[in-house]
Amino acid sequence: MSKPHNIIWHDSSISKEARRKQNNHSSFVLWFTGLSGSGKSTIANALAKELYERNIRNYVLDGDNIRNGLNRDLSFSDEDRSENIRRISEVSKLFVDNGTVVLTAFISPFIQDREMAKRIVSEEEFIEIFVSCPIEECEKRDPKGLYSKARKGEIPDFTGIDSPYEEPISPDFTIYTNEQSVSEIVESILNLLEKRKLI
Ligand code: ADX
Repeated sequence: MSKPHNIIWHDSSISKEARRKQNNHSSFVLWFTGLSGSGKSTIANALAKELYERNIRNYVLDGDNIRNGLNRDLSFSDEDRSENIRRISEVSKLFVDNGTVVLTAFISPFIQDREMAKRIVSEEEFIEIFVSCPIEECEKRDPKGLYSKARKGEIPDFTGIDSPYEEPISPDFTIYTNEQSVSEIVESILNLLEKRKLI
């Protein structure tokens, strides 16, 4: 992407550190990636509730919701998925600057785009969580009836069917939504965050 012309960055009067201090916790991004129907939004929302109970300011950015507003102009072509992730990453970065813990729930199927997300947010503030679930199970769940439509050829470029999903090679954490309960998974992520002294 080309550099914008005649745009001068204006430093904000309140630093990220000051906001974190006021909030009494750190800020970072938990980037959930996985197939449609794997449970990204369910886990992100359950975890958000736990963080909220602990007075940790947080916000969930979810694919289906963001694609209703900010990213409603984007399709599911490889290029538009990339742009989807770029915008979300920039928005996440603003939230982190605001001292907020961000939980993102996007398929984000391409390794290269997730690498871009990590670069935009910054490596030490980016935690990649692979939401692992066999496609057969996602298809069986089919919470939105989309796999069935995709199989009938009614949705082109559907992830896992005629558009690829590239599994993370070394995610920070992997959760197995077909083997563990939501509360077990939430607990294990909280443990990870505590171990890393992020919460
Ligand atoms: S991403 O690939 O660009 O990261 P995103 O997470 O924003 O995808 O949106 C995925 C959601 O859009 C899915 O959970 C599903 O509900 C819906 N969707 C509609 N068309 C497609 C498609 N072709 N592939 C995948 N998901 C789709």
